[in-house]
Amino acid sequence: MSGSLFRKELEFFRPYVQGKPIEAVRREYGLSRIEKLASNENQFGPSPLALEAMREELENINFYPDGSCFELVGALAGHLNVSPDSLVIGNGGEGLLWLISMAFLNAGEEIITSEPSFDIYSMSAVFMGAKPVKTPLRGQRFDIDALIGRANERTKILYLANPNNPTGHIASREEVDNLIKGIPEDVILVLDEAYHEFASAFPDYPENSASLPEKRPNTIVLRTFSKIYGIAGVRAGYLITSPLLAGKLNAVRQVFGVNRLAQVAAKAALKDSAYLRRIVLENRGAVAFLTEYFDRRGLEYFPSYANFVWVNTGRDSKTVFEELQRKGLIVRPGYLWGWKEWLRVSTGTPEQMAFFADKMDEVLA
Ligand SMILES: Cc1ncc(COP(=O)(O)O)c(C=O)c1O
Repeated sequence: MSGSLFRKELEFFRPYVQGKPIEAVRREYGLSRIEKLASNENQFGPSPLALEAMREELENINFYPDGSCFELVGALAGHLNVSPDSLVIGNGGEGLLWLISMAFLNAGEEIITSEPSFDIYSMSAVFMGAKPVKTPLRGQRFDIDALIGRANERTKILYLANPNNPTGHIASREEVDNLIKGIPEDVILVLDEAYHEFASAFPDYPENSASLPEKRPNTIVLRTFSKIYGIAGVRAGYLITSPLLAGKLNAVRQVFGVNRLAQVAAKAALKDSAYLRRIVLENRGAVAFLTEYFDRRGLEYFPSYANFVWVNTGRDSKTVFEELQRKGLIVRPGYLWGWKEWLRVSTGTPEQMAFFADKMDEVLA
């Protein structure tokens, strides 16, 4: 064999920078209280219905899961009013994002994304030998005209995280319509709606995106059970697209990629509308707490439609992040996206929000 042991794309591959787990911070700093508001997790525990379903399913984990996720697909199809053959279930939204890159991208092709946005779009593109074309925001909005302007004959996929991570802002109904009108029909539009349920009650958030693939078949709408339903740890996400795309994605996905606990938990969580309503309300309260706090401190932030707030600390975010971590508070520093003074803070319980404000006061003092 000559040359490198690894695929040449790995030369340019920059792995995802994960935050430190709570246990590691505890070991390092010897702290009694540590709060992690760094991964946009649901701090209120899993959906109780999901928990109960998993408890019952535990006895069956000697058996492989149903690779087709028949029951969950049926439940989702009813819930979303879409055809079962337009759905693909994945090992979290992240699993589906990798699957999308692996199914569609050839070396030399391009993807378009915004900057800052979710890293996996670019990482998985680079892994496939494709080129990420990053488009800066315009103020606190996506630059829809620039996104359209970047599309050329090499463009395969355009990603729009709505709400966006790490900023929490959205593309409005009108902006999504304009984007769809402006890009060629053969560009696959991925609307990543990981935080959909937090945003859906806002009047400017696009309604009914689940039905978009019926009108524009090269559209993929991606959602997850990790956030509002509180089951990030078992990994379940889904996408809605045209039967043609779904068929191919289902043909190439991992056969047993979605485990038994994830399947029953997701199906049960879908029915847990009381839990969902409670989390939406708790989240609204926490976002209001954070933004009022930032207003008091005179700090600039993006309006959040999700379960986190993107704030300009006016200082080096690496230093602020490290000082907060030393005090037992883990957040996500903006320098990781090249936004040197910004932080992303996930929402949490009222007690966690008060802890955040206390620690932030100490660091800013
Ligand atoms: C925008 C966005 N998309 C997708 C995901 C993937 O979530 P999961 O793999 O937990 O479903 C996340 C998680 O943080 C996200 O922020």
